[in-house]
Amino acid sequence: MSERNAQPGIRHKLAERLFHWVMAAAVIVLLATALLPILGIRFGWVPIHWTTGVVLSAAVLFHIFRAVFVNRLADMVPGPTDLREAGRVVLGRPTNDLRPAKYDAFQKGFHTAAAVTVLALVATGLTMLYKIDTSFWRRDPAVLSDATWGYIYVIHGAASLVLLFLVILHIYFAILPEHRAFLRAMIAGRGPGLARGDKH
Ligand code: HEM
Ligand code: HEM
Repeated sequence: MSERNAQPGIRHKLAERLFHWVMAAAVIVLLATALLPILGIRFGWVPIHWTTGVVLSAAVLFHIFRAVFVNRLADMVPGPTDLREAGRVVLGRPTNDLRPAKYDAFQKGFHTAAAVTVLALVATGLTMLYKIDTSFWRRDPAVLSDATWGYIYVIHGAASLVLLFLVILHIYFAILPEHRAFLRAMIAGRGPGLARGDKH
């Protein structure tokens, strides 16, 4: 099954656990530095924001490499069984006859939404580096037209609010007592092999 290239009993390998927590810390710092000034808490947020953004971009690149060449891409890609599972959960019907899977429909849905949103933020954010002066390069906004910059800023801002919503939702479900085995797996590695199929 999904544990073909993992040690038995290990749900998340060390590299994936390190990625998750580096990415989580980066996302939280990025959201806080972007949104706290809007709430009136003023500080020099730009240098912390862009350097953390560069760290997140590198982490995501590493993750995509691992996902394609080391882990099993199919474990996280939503398919027809996931649609069936989501539909049955909404209707309150049992799902125990569905094909077992490492991630359930809701985890795959969350991953897809978070991945699309973070990739949009990374692409627009890296482009926005042309707008600032650092010790490594000079600002050069003339590389794009004003109209194009407008689209980039709207996408970056809207995606950050979508990500804030997704992160709150994710942390709420991650700390529920009935999901404790998955939280332990993301910290220590050991945990259930399947989220759909035989949870208990
Ligand atoms: C197109 C880009 C991406 C692809 C192809 C991809 C693919 C995957 C795959 C295949 C897994 C399952 C690995 C396994 O359990 O064996 C996974 C897990 C995960 N992904 Fe992604 N992902 C992408 C983007 C992202 C982004 C942008 C984030 C950040 C929000 C992210 C965060 C995670 C996390 C935290 C896990 C769980 C860690 C693990 O056990 O591997 N992914 N991803
Ligand atoms: C700091 C609070 C956080 C906690 C307690 C937490 C907890 C977890 C846990 C327990 C899992 C593993 C679920 C499993 O084994 O299947 C997981 C996976 C994942 N986390 Fe987090 N996480 C946090 C922050 C974040 C942030 C900020 C992001 C970025 C958007 C994120 C993105 C993901 C993704 C994409 C996955 C894979 C899909 C899934 O399993 O739901 N996490 N997280």
